[in-house]
Amino acid sequence: MKNFTFSNPTKILFGTDAEKHAGDEVKIYASKVLLCYGSGSVVASGLLDRVRSSLREQGIESVELSGIQPNPRLSLVKQGIAVCREKGIDFILAVGGGSVIDTAKAIAVGVPYSGDVWDFYEYTATPTEALGVGVVLTIPAAGSESSNSTVISNMDLQLKRGLTTELVRPRFALMNPVLTFTLPPYQTACGAADIMAHIMERYFTNVRSVDFTDQLCEAGLRVIINNIPRVLANPEDYDARAEIMWTGAVAHNNLFDTGREGDWASHGIEHEISAIYDVAHGAGLAVVFPAWMRHVWRHDVARFAQFATRVWGVEMDYFNPERTALEGINRLEAFFQSIGLPVRLSQMNVPSDRIDEMASKATVKGGGAIGNFVKLDSDAIAAILNSAI
Ligand code: NZQ
Ligand code: ZN
Repeated sequence: MKNFTFSNPTKILFGTDAEKHAGDEVKIYASKVLLCYGSGSVVASGLLDRVRSSLREQGIESVELSGIQPNPRLSLVKQGIAVCREKGIDFILAVGGGSVIDTAKAIAVGVPYSGDVWDFYEYTATPTEALGVGVVLTIPAAGSESSNSTVISNMDLQLKRGLTTELVRPRFALMNPVLTFTLPPYQTACGAADIMAHIMERYFTNVRSVDFTDQLCEAGLRVIINNIPRVLANPEDYDARAEIMWTGAVAHNNLFDTGREGDWASHGIEHEISAIYDVAHGAGLAVVFPAWMRHVWRHDVARFAQFATRVWGVEMDYFNPERTALEGINRLEAFFQSIGLPVRLSQMNVPSDRIDEMASKATVKGGGAIGNFVKLDSDAIAAILNSAI
């Protein structure tokens, strides 16, 4: 096991009516807030009105920024920064999913910075201060509610880039599983793929003697595999929604990678697909992850066989562990298909003509290669994407 520091100070209020605490939690930090949300689901569900009332009851003034889209846009971030400066706002409340939260985080680092906020995503500047961010979560998926990262799309450059800094970790996350009852099946499934991907990015490591976190990862995966069919059959199954919501947060709060080194190549590759084709992040991962696995599994057959037996219940073939390892990958792909996700680029209407471009863009930040489990150069990434056409 590697040395590690673990700190996740995000305060979690979990359960029915959690959103009613929006006012008292914000009040700890500010009396004027930027209230951010997406394209309407929180208006239709009545959640936004409940949050507004909770803020009003505590005497908190709010200014609103709406219309945040999936694969959140840099242009709206800049609009939010301008509003905060103009109105003297010093706290941001995100009501929604990863896209809304990541926009809030980007605004938070952008307000005190005199340069272009995109500098942080290009890593040509490092943020040193930020406004506080709080969250009312409506979709378990990205884990942004307690993560230290934000991912933003620059449509002009067709780039989607992440920034990781402790400055953006939310002060609190209000998590009410009832809020997720209205999620369409496809968004529920995309969320599941992202949660599983966050766990698998950490699971496939070269670090030895990480049995505790191996088993945490395996448990997290099994919880998603067991509960997603339950909520697809009955969207109002509170207990199943609650299991998924809590697993989604812990999957990306860095507990599961304590003492180990994650891979993260699949995320890097997926971001290039989303940047150009605007596909849902979870759907892109459902295509990329099995293809990545089929490219790298020989690197550690034992780990893939462990994944197959412990996560998917595949019987171990001691005389042919390769067969066991491959069966685990097949089961993952079949699971994604069974919950309505694409497993090929063509199923997302992504053509093959820009694969080389995506492969080369994906390696820019890593200095020519990405991934820790297996290093991938642009030829390897192109091969993975070509195998997923
Ligand atoms: O905009 P509205 O109308 O709210 O609709 C949203 C949106 O269309 C809808 N939705 C959310 N909650 C709902 C709901 N519809 C009905 N009922 C509800 N309760 O779902 C759609 C997707 O929302 P989005 O916020 O985009 O989903 P998600 O949470 O999956 O976030 C994806 C973004 O997070 C980034 C991804 O790259 C992507 O841009 N990620 C952020 C990470 C982080 N900051 O730590 C890590 C992840 O790996 C990921 O990269
Ligand atoms: Zn993700």
